[in-house]
Amino acid sequence: MSVHKEVKKVTTHQLQEMKRRGEKITMLTAYDYTMAKIIDHAGIDVILVGDSASNVMAGHETTLPITLDQMIYHASSVVRAIDRALVVVDLPFGSYQGNSKEALTSAIKIMKESGGHAVKLEGGREIKDSIERILSAGIPVMGHLGLTPQSIYKFGTYTVRAKEEEEAKRLLDDAKLLQESGCFALVLEKIPAKLAEQVAKSISIPVIGIGAGAGVDGQVLVTHDMIGMTHEFSPRFLRRYLNLYESMTGAFQQYIKDVKNKDFPNQSEQY
Ligand code: KIV
Repeated sequence: MSVHKEVKKVTTHQLQEMKRRGEKITMLTAYDYTMAKIIDHAGIDVILVGDSASNVMAGHETTLPITLDQMIYHASSVVRAIDRALVVVDLPFGSYQGNSKEALTSAIKIMKESGGHAVKLEGGREIKDSIERILSAGIPVMGHLGLTPQSIYKFGTYTVRAKEEEEAKRLLDDAKLLQESGCFALVLEKIPAKLAEQVAKSISIPVIGIGAGAGVDGQVLVTHDMIGMTHEFSPRFLRRYLNLYESMTGAFQQYIKDVKNKDFPNQSEQY
């Protein structure tokens, strides 16, 4: 007889139920086993293996360089840590745009080789065919509108998107189209709070915001930013729950001092 504790896993259907009953959805990023285990045990609903790994883990300036195989490496490490959370994996730049057949091949490779539960794609009407083709294979898709970092060279900056009426209307139409196409949820990044609330009220799938205000159905942050491991990046929307950059620097400096002073290891720390 199994002695394993029964842990209820979060499903895409449950996220939609949470929206219906007004319960906020929580999402954080993770790219490795250890961090994912802590976040999952804390009780998060969704873990996003974001292509922000390109910045946070690999030190690239943008999300563009990360490859499909690198995303699979990160995602499979995360999946091994998870008991409960839904794991969503970003399709990286160049693995789905402009070619729905390639999009499906990329999504299948992620699902097969990482064990993730869903994929996320950036964009609206221009990637409709890719989204529908992936969904036809039974792979859940999360959309992503507003600031879409894979298009940074088109936008030119990381400033707030959809402040003008025309772009706001296009975003609202795209959100409706993503819902009609079958996406189970949508990320809205860095847009005016009023517009984000309007989108969340106009569609029945959950809207998860980052820099999109409080009127949406859930929130996502990049974990390394919210625990203060990074310290150069301080946008208005970021709430820091820890200042790990400082406390980790202090710990490393203390270790260096202890070794240099021959204080570490002491008698009880050796065999
Ligand atoms: O890659 C990422 O971390 C993301 C979040 C910012 C939503 O897409």
